[in-house]
Amino acid sequence: MALPVVDTDYLKEIDKARRDLRALIAQKNCAPIMLRLAWHDAGTYDKTTKTGGPNGSIRNEEEYSHGSNNGLKIAIDFCEGVKAKHPKVTYADLYQLAGVVAVEVTGGPTIDFVPGRKVRFGVSPKEGRLPDAKLDSSHLKDIFYRMGLSDKDIVALSGGHTLEERIQRSGFDGPWTTEPLKFDNSYFIELLRGETEGLLKLPTDKALLDDPAFRPYVELYAKDEETFFKDYAVSHKKLSELGFTPSSSASKKTAKDSIVLAQSAVGVAVAAAVVIFSYFMKSAKSEVDTVAFPTHIPVQICDIFILAILLQLRS
Ligand code: HEM
Repeated sequence: MALPVVDTDYLKEIDKARRDLRALIAQKNCAPIMLRLAWHDAGTYDKTTKTGGPNGSIRNEEEYSHGSNNGLKIAIDFCEGVKAKHPKVTYADLYQLAGVVAVEVTGGPTIDFVPGRKVRFGVSPKEGRLPDAKLDSSHLKDIFYRMGLSDKDIVALSGGHTLEERIQRSGFDGPWTTEPLKFDNSYFIELLRGETEGLLKLPTDKALLDDPAFRPYVELYAKDEETFFKDYAVSHKKLSELGFTPSSSASKKTAKDSIVLAQSAVGVAVAAAVVIFSYFMKSAKSEVDTVAFPTHIPVQICDIFILAILLQLRS
């Protein structure tokens, strides 16, 4: 498993890739399929065996050919263009970044993105780890619990079905909402409304209404979009980081910030010491005749300290 070094250069490339993804998604109107790509790469995670997860393995033909991944090759190919411009960025990070950007550009919440996922090529999980649309609520739970996700995560993440613009259809027809390129809470509103001609409801969507652990969240998200956005952002981040603990390299930036702070503090102290020393030298020279120690020194030392600190902060 390859682990990228998350240094300043890598973070810069991530920023550039983010901008390119925004442009690509706007141009191709492909936010839904990009979100689905991110979810299907991550959703194979098994917390017991620590296999699968957001590691870019969906790029293997063996995996994208799974029935559940039908149509996702299109999204994989879209991402190739961005990868070609930013080869440093790993597929694992790129696919998850695409999911985060897809939600943001369609008006959804901002999702915290931490890069540095391990990449796994050539090793794909066996078919059958992603949920089948015909599952009842207890099987749906089995699948998501295997990933390490909760009932609340299941409902919040299902809200991803607010987006739809299927470039390639797999037999389930129609979008879930009337504005399928807008990320909002209308998936839950439509779910509570019941059958509407032209709008899709999978058995797994309906399972959210029937299960007592799910339904309160459906009702809450239907009436309170802010709470949905807040919970969705948390659950999406969890999904995009399954089996991935941001390494020390990812937190290097924070460590670097502390070093800079420490250097500033040392700088302030040195600058203050130099100023005070020269002040004493000057006073000693001018006070030789009077011998008396100047009583105004403490006040002036304070002034000098403040001046030195201000000068250091400005630099
Ligand atoms: C709860 C279990 C889930 C099931 C059973 C399920 C099933 C499906 C199915 C059958 C489709 C239609 C695929 C096609 O015809 O091409 C679909 C589309 C989609 N799913 Fe899910 N899904 C689930 C969870 C999720 C989650 C967690 C997300 C994202 C957070 C998500 C995002 C999407 C999106 C965005 C589409 C539309 C893709 C497009 O238009 O190209 N789904 N899903």
